[in-house]
Amino acid sequence: IDISNLRSESGGVITLDPGYKNTGSCESAITFLDGEKGILRYRGYAIEELAKKVDFLEVTYLLIFGELPTKSQNDKFHEDIKAQSAVDEDIKKILDAFPRTAHPMGIISSLTSALTAFNPSSVNVNSEEDMYKAIVKILGKMPVLVAWTMRKRQGLPFDYGDESLGYVENLLKMMFSKPNSCYVQSKILVDALDKLLILHADHEQNCSTSTVRIVGSAHAGLFASISAGISALWGPLHGGANQAVLEMLQAIEADGGDTKKYMAKAKDKNDPFRLMGFGHRVYKNFDPRAKIIKKAADDVLDALGIDDPILAIAKGLEKEALEDPYFVERKLYPNVDFYSGIIYRAMNIPQEMFTVMFAIGRLPGWIAQWREMRLRKEPIGRPRQLYIGATERPFVPVEER
Ligand code: ACO
Repeated sequence: IDISNLRSESGGVITLDPGYKNTGSCESAITFLDGEKGILRYRGYAIEELAKKVDFLEVTYLLIFGELPTKSQNDKFHEDIKAQSAVDEDIKKILDAFPRTAHPMGIISSLTSALTAFNPSSVNVNSEEDMYKAIVKILGKMPVLVAWTMRKRQGLPFDYGDESLGYVENLLKMMFSKPNSCYVQSKILVDALDKLLILHADHEQNCSTSTVRIVGSAHAGLFASISAGISALWGPLHGGANQAVLEMLQAIEADGGDTKKYMAKAKDKNDPFRLMGFGHRVYKNFDPRAKIIKKAADDVLDALGIDDPILAIAKGLEKEALEDPYFVERKLYPNVDFYSGIIYRAMNIPQEMFTVMFAIGRLPGWIAQWREMRLRKEPIGRPRQLYIGATERPFVPVEER
């Protein structure tokens, strides 16, 4: 039986798999992941090699178009993105309307959705050329929206960037330049952020990516699909974990650094507390991204001469968890979010912006998955359910209820 015809051919049978723990939703040629062996590859290239040898924009091109770019392809891609980096001044009015205390993920998701209204022609994509136009638009505008969102919270005037800089360096400039002072960014931090973004760039059918594909499957347009993905990423069980990890580590520090107390809380089934940054639906051995990020955190802190007590708490928790039967039996290891916040903190990125940085990193993956889904002409996503409600019953008028 063809699985897509299971219901009609079997007289009503459906597969039921809450959380889609063992259900594939699509065929994809973008990212390979082996959770048992801790392998992650983008388009066949090992993540460890990409993080060392190429930059974020090259990885973006690789994920979306399937091959590493030649020098001229890369230059053209960068030029096309730069040409689309202007954001309509009216978007600022929307940004202005948010309270300064609004969470940046809520703002970014709204502004990304607003891009659809400002670019209605981007919705009806009927050719690869239409897709390309929408893709370079969102890649050009997203860093601007991210930087503006951060600066609004800080009450700083907006920075329009410097076209001579690379993609990641320009993002940092737009975030951190100070009025009336010359902007210089440390190469260590540019490289560290580049690496972090590469490691976040795609992760096959995770919660936010599946959201992007399912919204896109209704032909809602790239920007609306990405906006939905950003909302999904915000959740603390997904990308929101990086902010939650830092908050947890700070709480442990403020509480005297007693990691054992928090390990006990995490194991107590009557306590809703979970060790944030631990566990993964797919990795049951180790998360290859966490390994690289842990080393990057050490390197960045060393190079900047920062002695962060939070790093010591994180390492202590990891050591205890690796020896604790509860975590070992359930195969709970540090995930990508466990150490990334420590690097963001060293870069002076405010905590509420951590998940936004994840969103910038995941943008290429969302785009690649959306493009693949449209090119493969996948049908609209529409899961079935097992109905467990009331059987048919008579209507009761309001005065008799
Ligand atoms: N702390 C304590 N116990 C945990 C944790 C944790 N972080 N994660 C899982 N467990 C326990 C569960 O209580 C459950 O125990 P049980 O078998 O006794 O009931 C068992 O491990 C399996 O956990 P599930 O929630 O069923 O695993 P699932 O695959 O559904 O969830 C998830 C994975 C959401 C990542 C989970 O491990 C979690 O909540 N981790 C903390 C949040 C986090 O770090 N999220 C980021 C994930 S990476 C990313 O999205 C980018």
